[in-house]
Amino acid sequence: MIDLRSDTFTKPTEEMRRAMYEAEVGDDVYGEDPTMNRLRDKAIEITGKEDAIIVSSGCMGNLIPHMIKGGRGKEVLTASTSHIVCHEIGAIVSLSGTLPVIVPSENGIMKAEDVEKCIHGYAYDMSETSMIETENTTSGLIYPIDTLMDIKAIAERHSLWVHMDGARIFNASVETGITVKEYAKSADDITFCLSKGLGAPAFSVLSSTKNFIKEAKRCRKILGGGMRQVGILAAAGIYALEHNIERLKDDHAHREMISKALSETDWAEVVISSTNMIFFRTSYPIKNVIEAFRRKGMLFLAEGEIGRIVLSMLVSDEDTENAIRIIREMDPKEFE
Ligand SMILES: Cc1ncc(COP(=O)(O)O)c(C=O)c1O
Repeated sequence: MIDLRSDTFTKPTEEMRRAMYEAEVGDDVYGEDPTMNRLRDKAIEITGKEDAIIVSSGCMGNLIPHMIKGGRGKEVLTASTSHIVCHEIGAIVSLSGTLPVIVPSENGIMKAEDVEKCIHGYAYDMSETSMIETENTTSGLIYPIDTLMDIKAIAERHSLWVHMDGARIFNASVETGITVKEYAKSADDITFCLSKGLGAPAFSVLSSTKNFIKEAKRCRKILGGGMRQVGILAAAGIYALEHNIERLKDDHAHREMISKALSETDWAEVVISSTNMIFFRTSYPIKNVIEAFRRKGMLFLAEGEIGRIVLSMLVSDEDTENAIRIIREMDPKEFE
């Protein structure tokens, strides 16, 4: 099967597993896991922030900043398609009490002037804005760095915190050549995921100031995320950061080839094709399209009626060629 469902399906390789086997461990709740501490130091080096904390998932990495800087009854400005709005079971509302306010956006990319228009200052009967959230990449699309810096400047003018969900920030970075450190300057805190395109089995990293991370440790504990000998997993994260960033370019090249093949059919209209993701529309019921491809050995998912293809290390050059052949040979009668 050619697995184009998500980069979250990636599995640790043998070399990564060896690094996990050999990891030195200690009690991380007491800050004594040496491998975890090495991963933290690496994150600090990559993001240029003062400190970092490793959290169990991207969702936890998004929730903690809302617990610290969002606040109950306060507003976070974000796009309608953001992960915190669509895919986190309302956690920022139910657990941190922060209200998402939707800023108009084009496929998740907000304009700085639209963000500014949505800021609420003090009024006796209105909730106040406390935070802005950006997601980079968002549906595979890369935020222009100038837009991010403009949003940060607006946030500073209004004393607002900026959280960047950088689950796939390395995809943005390898594509544009802009370092993660540069992107991180546009936010007060940034998360990135190790368990998606980078291929580790778990973990996200949250980086920010020392004071923020001190608070983040308390929030992680509240959420049940204080773990003990997790150097085993941290070793996979270190391996991922040392070996799997540059190769994301292969996923992007495969995405471009598959996207071209799709756009040449008369049954698919590609609506987004960027970094490692393709979104396409079709006039056929998407579940029939998915099922027809599954019968031919190719898996992908949908968001609503939009087909979604995600490239990752699960897909080799040969798989890409086979996927293109399956797409070209597909008879739309199979979708009826
Ligand atoms: C943009 C984005 N942010 C956050 C997350 C959450 O990550 P996790 O599944 O590790 O909680 C995801 C998951 O796919 C994501 O795509």
